[in-house]
Amino acid sequence: MDKAAFIKQYATTRQHTDSLKWDALQTRYGDADLLPMWVADMEFKVPEAVTQALQERVAHGVYGYSITPDSYYQALINWQKTRHCVDLQRDWIRFGSGVVNSLYALVNILTQPGDGVLILTPVYYPFFNAVRDNHRQLVTSELRNDQGHYTIDFDDVERKIKANEVRLFIQCSPHNPVGRIWTEAEQTRLLALCERYHVLVISDEIHQDLEIDRAAHPFQSALSVADGRFNDRLIVVNAPSKTFNIASLLNSHIIIPNSELRQRYDDQIGRFSQTEISVLGQVAGKAAYQSGAEWLDQVLAIIRDNYHYLQTTFAAQAPKLVLSELQGTYLTWLDLRAYVQPENAKAFIQDRCHIAVDFGEWFSPADKGFVRINLATDPKNVQEAAKRIVACLA
Ligand SMILES: Cc1ncc(COP(=O)(O)O)c(C=O)c1O
Repeated sequence: MDKAAFIKQYATTRQHTDSLKWDALQTRYGDADLLPMWVADMEFKVPEAVTQALQERVAHGVYGYSITPDSYYQALINWQKTRHCVDLQRDWIRFGSGVVNSLYALVNILTQPGDGVLILTPVYYPFFNAVRDNHRQLVTSELRNDQGHYTIDFDDVERKIKANEVRLFIQCSPHNPVGRIWTEAEQTRLLALCERYHVLVISDEIHQDLEIDRAAHPFQSALSVADGRFNDRLIVVNAPSKTFNIASLLNSHIIIPNSELRQRYDDQIGRFSQTEISVLGQVAGKAAYQSGAEWLDQVLAIIRDNYHYLQTTFAAQAPKLVLSELQGTYLTWLDLRAYVQPENAKAFIQDRCHIAVDFGEWFSPADKGFVRINLATDPKNVQEAAKRIVACLA
């Protein structure tokens, strides 16, 4: 299907569907009349096969307690193998009702109050909350920013681990909001530091399928770094929800290769959550893994075009804006500071451009003056956002 036909079939409006992104602007931003480019979900309908699978299930009309069928495991295992060369074993897999829920539970299960938990900032803000809300010590290491290309400051990471008795590192891979896909070399170095200092690792890989240029920057799961050398200290969390736009169906995975850690998880998870599976989430997830690859490739092509559109528009009309290199995720990170004082960024984007974004300071106190813009949308929304930003800068 060509791009225009895909957009015609799948792009949709979401007002008046109880959408957080579109229908909560008044409560979240105090202004219902903004162009919503925030929350990480899409304006694209799910693959046709997912709609069909859900319709069949709905037609049956019963939603009693359910089990995970073998075919779900198989679909997930095949997806990980064919898309990412990861050999997932069935007994490593547990289910959750969302990745953030699992982060909260895992912080509790893997650490004690007061333990140091390391995150690399700027990062998806629930990482901060999962640590602080559980009364663990938040330890941050700032990523290095070289004109929008972000890298890890390994010396700082090591210093912080040693100084704070860090027990757990939460990795974001690909990294929301800076758009990096961490290479095997970077992950090997980071995980080796964790190994040296006996630090456990959670790798949040919810954006794993959102590879913007797979040939240049392929996603590598922490599970396959150095042929699985670090798997004994690793828990991966992922889901079909970002990839296939099914976040509200509440189905996610917790992958625990180490049998002792798995036992610890199984023994303790019931203290936080008795919910096991979402039947509609698994019906949708299975259909998506089985039949959604082509749809995903089309969506990725649109995201790539949207990103290039922003890049070329800004390069021509506001060349001092710095748009981070987008390797993974559909969330682009824009540095406004050459034109707008950091403390005025919110007023600029919201009150002058009338766009709802995620603000830099949500991801790190040091990042006022940055905004995160969601590109998984109809190109006309991206064009409108770019037009407003350029016009207001002029
Ligand atoms: C890195 C990361 N983890 C988790 C989530 C949310 O996951 P869930 O909706 O499954 O809680 C997001 C959503 O944007 C995210 O970016």
